[in-house]
Amino acid sequence: MRILSIETSCDETAVSLVEGAGGLASPSFTVHGNSLFSQIELHKEYGGVFPMLAKREHVKNLPPLLLQTLTEAGEKKETAPTAVSSTTEETWKKIENILAREEGLFESFKRDLEHLEKPNIEAICVTCGPGLEPALWVGISFAVALGLLWGIPVVPVNHMEGHIVSVLMETNDDRPVSFPALALLISGGHTEIVEVSTWGSYTVIGRTRDDAVGEAFDKVARLLGLPYPGGPEISKLAEQARNENIPNLAKFPRPMINSGDLSFSFSGLKTSVLYYLRDFTEKNNRELAEDDKKDIAREFEDAVVETLLHKTKAALEETGAGTLIIAGGVIANKKIRETFKKLEETYSGLLVKTPVHALATDNALMIASAGYIQTLLYPEKLTEQKEIRAQGNLELGKKI
Ligand code: KG4
Ligand code: ZN
Repeated sequence: MRILSIETSCDETAVSLVEGAGGLASPSFTVHGNSLFSQIELHKEYGGVFPMLAKREHVKNLPPLLLQTLTEAGEKKETAPTAVSSTTEETWKKIENILAREEGLFESFKRDLEHLEKPNIEAICVTCGPGLEPALWVGISFAVALGLLWGIPVVPVNHMEGHIVSVLMETNDDRPVSFPALALLISGGHTEIVEVSTWGSYTVIGRTRDDAVGEAFDKVARLLGLPYPGGPEISKLAEQARNENIPNLAKFPRPMINSGDLSFSFSGLKTSVLYYLRDFTEKNNRELAEDDKKDIAREFEDAVVETLLHKTKAALEETGAGTLIIAGGVIANKKIRETFKKLEETYSGLLVKTPVHALATDNALMIASAGYIQTLLYPEKLTEQKEIRAQGNLELGKKI
């Protein structure tokens, strides 16, 4: 099945054209076109993602990214000058209404697409949540407008399912996922342990009570005066502390490690860093030096990794999972990758699977794969077009 997918849940605008095959038993994907624009440089200035700014950028980026994807897939075909357009005035009116809330989008949509033939695709898949609602709406409106223009169904996709199924594409290890599997989702907005009985069947068995892991990295980085996003900055300093054998003075808690459940809490850890910095000069009779920052970064990273590891091991033992999928932007962290890969030595037969770096952060390919799975599970999604709404707090496992 040929799918066009759209992702706009946060600060990445992404469009891809993917072919899914193999059914639920052995899903596989061929990428025909894939474009992504990251707004990270823009948000850096503000130290975080601003929803209304993200929305404006999605409006600007979606039309050119679509054209780029269609071109790459060989699907950008001009209609013959003599051909009579099959799009009626009434359809254009509907499209205009749908795009009305995204300022300027209708104009660029019409200008770019009026003269193009319908590409060879059977469905459009779009992220409907979780994420920033103003940002999600842009992608949804754009997808619904395309669905009307080309007369094809639009399938809503859960962004977190996208992260899980991203391991059906390029990964660190070609061996197939075995069920039940466990997914550890670690990003700027989420920290979840999910039991995956089979593709499309998810139960969240652990989650954070406050900050997400990536958010904790970003907040601690800010305390240390490092730029946004803080994760890569902290892990760079932590690695230097290890390579340079800097003495370990800072001591932070491993939050909720003895809670007896699979919950996380990272806001207290951030507060420990805050207090440590506040009291540092008085306690040590000197100013904080560069080496102290490296020490703090390492101790913080160790605390996060040990906590994640402890809970993940408990979840593996509880579920007897044969595959551990780890996804989300924080998997870029080298210490986490290395530590978790070693679990294959602890649990014989366990496969630890992570998407390649480009698929760990938000992208449209993961949305196409999740959309393919959804259409196999619920074929009616291709025939009964329901209204699609942005759901900022959409939970995994909720039918959409
Ligand atoms: O999944 P993602 O790209 O965006 C969403 O939050 O959906 O994740 C971004 C998060 C940020 O908080 C960033 O600081 C964190 O991933 N991150 C890292 C590293 N690279 C990115 N955290 C720790 N170590 C890293 N190397
Ligand atoms: Zn994400």
